[in-house]
Parts: sequence; structure tokens; C-alpha cells
Amino acid sequence: MRVHIKFITYILLGAILTAFVFLVLLLCIISDWEPISVRVQRVFEQKSNAPYKPKLNKFSITEMMGSTSVIDVVKPDEKTVILEPTMPFLKGGKSKRPFAVIMVTSLARFFNQRQAIRSTWYKWAHDLNIRIFFMIGHTGQNPILQNLEEEQRIHDDLIIDNFEEGYYKLPAKILRMVKWFNTTYLPENSPRYLIKTDHDVFINLLNLVNILRETPYYSNLVSLSGQNNSKLLLPDSVNIPFDSSDVESYFVGGQKFAKPEVEVDPDSKWYMDSKEREMLGWSGPYLPTYLNGPCYIISGNVVGTIYEASFNVPIFPFEDVYLIGLVAYDRLSLAISDIGQQMWLDKSYYCLVKNRTILQRMVAFHPLDHPSSMVKVCRRLPTCKRQMSSSSTSNNRNCNLLASIAKNA
Ligand SMILES: *[C@@H]1O[C@H](CO)[C@@H](O)[C@H](O)[C@H]1NC(C)=O
Ligand SMILES: *[C@@H]1O[C@H](CO)[C@@H](O)[C@H](O)[C@H]1NC(C)=O
Ligand SMILES: *[C@@H]1O[C@H](CO)[C@@H](O)[C@H](O)[C@H]1NC(C)=O
Repeated sequence: MRVHIKFITYILLGAILTAFVFLVLLLCIISDWEPISVRVQRVFEQKSNAPYKPKLNKFSITEMMGSTSVIDVVKPDEKTVILEPTMPFLKGGKSKRPFAVIMVTSLARFFNQRQAIRSTWYKWAHDLNIRIFFMIGHTGQNPILQNLEEEQRIHDDLIIDNFEEGYYKLPAKILRMVKWFNTTYLPENSPRYLIKTDHDVFINLLNLVNILRETPYYSNLVSLSGQNNSKLLLPDSVNIPFDSSDVESYFVGGQKFAKPEVEVDPDSKWYMDSKEREMLGWSGPYLPTYLNGPCYIISGNVVGTIYEASFNVPIFPFEDVYLIGLVAYDRLSLAISDIGQQMWLDKSYYCLVKNRTILQRMVAFHPLDHPSSMVKVCRRLPTCKRQMSSSSTSNNRNCNLLASIAKNA
């Protein structure tokens, strides 16, 4: 009998201990104190398991794109935007041009991601004469559009264009973005830079502006006022097809991939059958030199040129390869500048937030898998943290908006 009781006690103790360990593990997983390394690992696993693309037939990417004709997709002569900012310029002056316009690709349902940006790096924008807009595709009338209209009333930073979203439709989205830029800003009040980024990218606007102001690239642009800019032309800038009195200097830069090999892994979302690639006008083992999609910069004075040149280049399913590689680099022979040392794209978030030296130097980080990561990065940067805690008058209205979205969902 005694032995039995002892035995049962041990079993009970064992069970309690196991339950405790499980509870702690569970807490780790759902709470903030889950080690970041574990979380990053999990996110990467989720990503690699995600059905990025269904098993495709030979030309199904082209089918999914809808059309490869830019004119069909962009409808340059038609007004396609449903909702746009009433203030594309800076507040305070009717036509005060921004130093830069940052276009963040977003989806209608990613309200939380937009809020994460608005509560962090977005707050630097006003002092730096930068305007930030979210680019969203939407078709049809429904509660989602009502929410977006409400969000627009508060923030005035949405560009809702009438097109269908989809991974292989991203080039169309980027072209609509360029179209909006070209129709909104005339050459005389064009922002100096158009910056394309995504909703899961943190941009350190202070570092970005410093790069654009202090590096030779910037003086490249101000050379219109008389500076010698020849040292700034990079080795591959042969054959710049501009009348120098027209566009004397420009900047197209980001994390540069020089003549990268085409993706050969059939399970990758960037894989394309070689026949299909050929059909879209690009064969061979390499892609044109291009800039990594999560963040690239184009000076305002060449946006229109790139836009119009795209009308004669069949759409390729990857927006960065298309706009920068096929149009800017291959078709127009523009110089592509590399500021990739200060961009942390497609690397581990864990290493980034851990190493403050890297973090403080960086211009752009990607991917931030969750809106809370945006806030965490901001908290690690003193200047951002200060901005983040500065009070916002729209906080209450945001709460109302959240409530109305919850009601409609
Ligand atoms: C782009 O903008 C320029 C300058 O305003 C304009 O002349 C041109 O027609 C626009 N291009 C298109 C295709 O709308
Ligand atoms: C500009 O500077 C380069 C060297 O950096 C020099 O070779 C070139 O002659 C200069 N051009 C003018 C117009 O001064
Ligand atoms: C942070 O990164 C810098 C630059 O890559 C490196 O020199 C340094 O050793 C890193 N620090 C830590 C703590 O990992």
C-alpha cells in the first residue's frame, strides 16, 4: 500500500511538472518573451511551407497576369483611381513640392500594417518634407471601400486604384503607381524622389535623407545648378539616351543585383519556365540588372521617362525585374546605383534588431513579418522612439475607425 502511494505521488508530481513545462512553453509562444530567434525560425518555416504558388502549367504565370500589354493594364488615358489624397503636396503650401514621395504597397485588409507604419517611421516624414502614400488595388463597392474612405478622411494618404490584386499582378500595381505620380506631379513641381516600398519594410527616413543629401548621388541631381557630376556616373551608365539639357542627372538606386541568374528552383515563387520567359522577351540564364523590390529609389525627373518607355516593354511578372531591370536598365540604359550596404532586405530580422550598430546605420529593413516588429525596431532607435511617443491627435479617431472596421468585418 505504502509503495503504491509513493508511486502515485511520483506520477502526480511528474504530471504536474510536465504540465508546468508545457504551460511555460505555451506562454513563450503566445507572449512577447518568446526568444526572437525561435520566432524568426517559425516565420521562416511558415513562409517556406506557404503555398506561394499553385502547381502551374507552362504559361500559367502569364495567364495569371491577365495581360502583358502595359497599355491594356494601365489604361494611360483613363482615370482609374477611385480614391486619392486631397493633398499630394505638403501641408502649408498649395503647391509645395515634397522632397520625396514614398509609395507603400498595401492591401485593403492590412489596416494594422498601415497603422504600424503610421505610428513609427511615418512620423518622421513631416519634418523631412516627405509624403507617404499607401497604394491599394480595389474593385467594386462594398464595406471594405467604406472603411477605406473612412481611413482616408483621417489620414489622407491612400491611393485606391481600380485593379485586381495578386502576386503576379504586382507589376501592374507598380505601373499604376507610376501613372498616378506622373499625372499628379507636373515636371515643375515634381518631388525629387519617388521611393517604392512595401508594407513590411521599415524605412529609417533620417538615414535615407542623409544618403540622398550627402552622397554624390544627390549632387548628381543638383548638378543642374552647375556642379561637375562626371565622377558620379557609374561604370554601367553607358549610352544615357537623354538630351543633356533635358535630364542632366538622375538617380535610380537601391540594393542592386547585377546580372543575376534566373531562378532554377521550380518551387520558388520567382521560378519561371524558360519558354514562358522567352515568350515575355527575356531568355538566357541571366536577368537584367535590377534593384531589390522592397525598397528602391527613382529620381522624380526620370519617372515619366520610365513610365512612357514601359508602354513598349511586355510586362514581366516580377515588378522590380520589370520596372528597373527591363525598362530602366535594359530599355533606357539608365545607370543603376547600389546603396545595398545600407539596406537589410531579405535577411534575418533577429540579427538586425540584436545588432544596434547595424540597426542604426540601415536605411531599409525587410521583412518585418508582423506589425509589432515595426514597433520593436522603432523602439530600438532613440530618434524613432521619441517620435513614436509624441502624441497624435488622430488617436481617438483611429479607435473609432478600428471599432467600425470590427463591426463591418
Ligand atoms: C507624364 O507626364 C508628363 C508631364 O506632365 C506629360 O507630358 C505626359 O503626357 C505624361 N505621360 C502620360 C503617358 O500620361
Ligand atoms: C569633371 O570632372 C572630371 C574628373 O572628376 C574631369 O575629368 C572632367 O573634365 C570635368 N568636367 C568639366 C566639364 O569640368
Ligand atoms: C554588429 O555588426 C557589426 C558590423 O557588421 C559587427 O562589426 C559587430 O561585431 C556586430 N556586433 C555584434 C554584437 O554582433
